[in-house]
Amino acid sequence: MRALRFHQHGAPLDVLRLEDVQPPTPGPGQIRIAVQACGLTPADWALCEGLFPGDLPRGIGLEVSGTVDAIGDGVTGVDLGDPVFGPAPFTGPSAGASEQAVLDVWFPRRPGLDPVDAAALPMAVETAYRGLDALGVAAGQTVLVHAAGTTVGYAAVQIALRRGARVIATAGKTYAEALRDLGAEVTDYGDGMADRVRALAGGPVDLAFDTAPPSNALPELVRVTDDPKHVLTVVDFPAAKELGVRFSGPGGEGAISTHVLGDYGQLAAEGRFSIPVAGKFPLADWRAAVELSRSGHARGKLVLLIG
Ligand SMILES: NC(=O)c1ccc[n+]([C@@H]2O[C@H](COP(=O)([O-])OP(=O)(O)OC[C@H]3O[C@@H](n4cnc5c(N)ncnc54)[C@H](OP(=O)(O)O)[C@@H]3O)[C@@H](O)[C@H]2O)c1
Repeated sequence: MRALRFHQHGAPLDVLRLEDVQPPTPGPGQIRIAVQACGLTPADWALCEGLFPGDLPRGIGLEVSGTVDAIGDGVTGVDLGDPVFGPAPFTGPSAGASEQAVLDVWFPRRPGLDPVDAAALPMAVETAYRGLDALGVAAGQTVLVHAAGTTVGYAAVQIALRRGARVIATAGKTYAEALRDLGAEVTDYGDGMADRVRALAGGPVDLAFDTAPPSNALPELVRVTDDPKHVLTVVDFPAAKELGVRFSGPGGEGAISTHVLGDYGQLAAEGRFSIPVAGKFPLADWRAAVELSRSGHARGKLVLLIG
């Protein structure tokens, strides 16, 4: 099978190779899928650059959809050919960006949810849910989602609204109207952001969730809330430590929240939740997807079409 992977750490375009490799064998409790679609995220590039070092070669591609093609010992409730989606483990010699992938955790892909939209869900939903939970977002609060044009931020807006929070979002032009249609109050993320958000909120907001690509936004978010403990980032860990802001990610706050993916897959199948997809690329065209993602302006999920 073909798999996208790296043999040494470095910049993704330098170290990634599309290679013919042995298909993985599902262990006890695992399934293997014939991959149909694989979402790409900034975490893939961080893996290439040495986040979570381990044995090499290692695969990339942390979120997938496909059909079950092998079932490990002890697995029940799933049959060969079933359509599923979920997060792909990323410590092996291949991961989700390959023709076959093993999964530890999976969810049925319901009719109405196509393979591409399913593969776009796991990373954005898990990260947003974990961050909002750690922050304690609940009904009646006003929450700022900073960088709601990211896939994580776009998910966070929908999840916070479902919880009954008032949501103010910062975003570029790409999804500003779509975010307003969802029920958020939207302003852009450029100069003067804190003043604009405070004016919309009529004072400090209760909580702020930062999902922006690295852009030194945390001091502004502290100004928005008046308290660094009311801000949580999933991106800028060094600045968070310096400012007393909370963070969720490796070594940070929040419980891994993959358990909610089935519910969000169901909502997506019913047209009540979505992660926007910006581009679909055949596996062989992976370089174009890397370049677009690395530009910082993917404007939605980038998905490899496989199988
Ligand atoms: N800690 C964790 O567990 C964890 C897990 C997953 C992801 N992350 C991090 O979360 C962030 C978002 O991930 P993602 O995959 O959702 O990103 P993404 O979709 O690739 O983000 C790209 C989007 O960011 C927006 N953007 C660019 N510059 C911005 C700025 N200065 N301020 C605000 N928005 C800006 C742009 O949208 P516009 O159209 O609005 O300009 C762009 O389309 C990444 O930094 C990622 O590394 C962390």
